[in-house]
Parts: sequence; C-alpha cells; structure tokens
Amino acid sequence: MSRLRVGQAGLGYWGRNLARNFDEVADLRWLCDASEERRAEFTERYPNASVTGDFGDLLTAEDVDAVVIATPVPTHYPLAKAALEAGKHVFVEKPPAMRAAEMEDLIGLAEVNGLVLMPGHLLLYHPGVQKLKEIVDSRELGDVLVVYGNRQNLGKIRKDENALWSLGVHDLSVIQYLIEEEIVEAAAHGHAFLNAGVEDVVFCYLRFASGKIAHMHLSWLDPHKMRRLTVVGRDKMAVFDDMELDRKITVYDAAPEEPSDTYGEWRTRTGDTFSPKLSNAEPLKLECQHFIRLVEEGWDGREMRDGLEVVRALELLTESLRNGS
Ligand SMILES: NC(=O)c1ccc[n+]([C@@H]2O[C@H](COP(=O)([O-])OP(=O)(O)OC[C@H]3O[C@@H](n4cnc5c(N)ncnc54)[C@H](O)[C@@H]3O)[C@@H](O)[C@H]2O)c1
Repeated sequence: MSRLRVGQAGLGYWGRNLARNFDEVADLRWLCDASEERRAEFTERYPNASVTGDFGDLLTAEDVDAVVIATPVPTHYPLAKAALEAGKHVFVEKPPAMRAAEMEDLIGLAEVNGLVLMPGHLLLYHPGVQKLKEIVDSRELGDVLVVYGNRQNLGKIRKDENALWSLGVHDLSVIQYLIEEEIVEAAAHGHAFLNAGVEDVVFCYLRFASGKIAHMHLSWLDPHKMRRLTVVGRDKMAVFDDMELDRKITVYDAAPEEPSDTYGEWRTRTGDTFSPKLSNAEPLKLECQHFIRLVEEGWDGREMRDGLEVVRALELLTESLRNGS
C-alpha cells in the first residue's frame, strides 16, 4: 500500500516534532507556515516537500490525502473545517475547537464526508496511560471512585491561554478516557497573578453521572514539577507519574474495608505495591501511527467524540471560572 500523503500547517515549537514523525511514518509532501523564516528553515530541512505560506495550497493539492494542523488554538476550527470541506482527513492539535458547537460541526463534516478527524491528545498514546486504562478496564481496582491530576511546575508562563486550556486539556483527555461518562457538574476556581485575565493557577472539580469525581490542580506557579494522575478504586489504587523514570505506574493493593465483626467501622488494608514494566516507545510516534491506521483501516469515530467531550468539559470549566461560582 502506498504511504499516506500528508500536508502540515504550523511548523513552530510543536509542529517541528510532528513533521519529524510524519516524515518517518508517512509521505510528508507539503509544509505550510505563515512565517517566512520558518518556511526558509523547513525548505532546507525537507527538500522533497513543497513549502507554502498559503493554507489553501494544501487543500487544492491533489497529492495531499491528510492535513496535519499545528497552528495556534484559535485557528484550529477554521482550518480543520476548510480541510474537511476539501475532502482531506484531519489530524488537529488539541483542542480542535474552542466551543463544543464548533467541534460538533467538525464531527458532522467528518461523518458526512467519510473522513477521519483526530484530535492530538498526546497523553492517550503514552504507554503509561495505556497501561492505566488496561488496569481500570480489567476492574483490578474495583469501582473507580476518584481520579485526580497534578500538573504543576514553575513555568512555562503563558500569556495567550490560561493554565486550564494549556495544561488541563491533557488531564481532561485522560480522565474522560478512563471514566467514559457524562459530566454532570463542573466547577473551577483560579487566579491570574502574573498576566491580567490569564489564570496561572486553576483548581477544577468534576462529577460524573454515576457519582465518580475528579479533580485537577493546574499551575505554572509552583515549586513542584508534577505530572501525575491518581486513580482511587474501591479495591485498589493506581498512580501514573510521568516524572518517574522506571516506575511510571504503581498499583497499591490498599483500600478501606468494613469487616463483618466490627459493625459500622471502617478499617484500612495496605498490601503490596506493584510497578508493571512499560514499553519505552515514543508517544508522539505512536500517536502519528494511530492516525495513519485510522485512515487506512477505517474507524468508528471514537477519537473525535472523545475530543468533543474534552471541549465540552473545557467550556463548562471556563464558564465556572468566569462566573466565580
Ligand atoms: N500535544 C502536545 O503536547 C503539544 C505541546 C505543545 C503545543 N501543542 C499544540 O500545538 C499547537 C502549536 O503550538 P506551538 O507551541 O507549536 O506554537 P508556535 O507558536 O510555536 O507555532 C505555531 C506556528 O503556526 C504558524 N501559523 C499561525 N497561523 C497560521 C496559519 N493560519 N497558517 C499557517 N501557519 C500558521 C506560526 O507562524 C507558527 O510558526 C497548539 O495547538 C498547541 O496547543 C501540543
């Protein structure tokens, strides 16, 4: 089978990583960026690709099957919409749209035209998150009660998007992936200490249809560098810690118990801890390969519907943050 022919727009900090991977796993035919400097750099780096400043060239090019979008967030929706209307499969960086209604519009276009629309939720392709999902789905933890994320560091301080949009989108994608339920309550509190209107620290609370709850602490104003997700089950607990080198997943055989001989009184049980071995494959490469597989083998649309749930959660949390409720 011939390799998927890809055109990519956005060759900045993240786009260069995507281009490197798509050049390996697909046929990277077209490159597009609004900046002349970037175009010059990439013309030299990928001499076999056509380079342009006009996104429209990717849409009219007959040798482009799929468009990769790694431009700033507010441009995702209009560019993805134009690409789907032109009959191209779309991989678009997270989040694909800033409003749920826009995301629904993109999903409708993908469905009508029989195209793949995949949001770039990188963490879902991390072997640690894949393992966590396997553990949760196997019911080893029992019923999941609570999931909470810590995504903190000192920096990188952003001016154009707050901690919820910049950091929270990663944890939200994983929380949705693990819980797979509708959000019935969403509340967020945060504060802009450094740049007016851009919250540096955000605390989020989510409640799901069955009563499961989730929390996220998102901040670039913190002494700890934390990239951690904790899942508390009725029978066991598990932690995914991306700052760990070897033990990224730890399962704790620990839980509260209500022995039959102690009427109404809870005790706690703490047993062994276990760290499964993980593959050290690069999540970004796995993500790019996944997109190609969806295009080549067909799909049921799960990735774009999960993307809609993430945008919906971002919208609900933003509303709460703005209302201060
Ligand atoms: N998955 C991840 O872990 C991850 C990490 C970082 C960034 N991102 C995402 O990648 C995207 C890009 O972020 P970045 O940090 O690379 O930004 P960046 O500012 O470094 O790069 C954006 C590039 O897009 C170009 N551009 C802007 N509008 C354009 C248009 N209409 N047509 C063509 N080119 C255009 C700019 O000239 C720039 O080169 C964002 O959506 C961001 O959320 C994802």
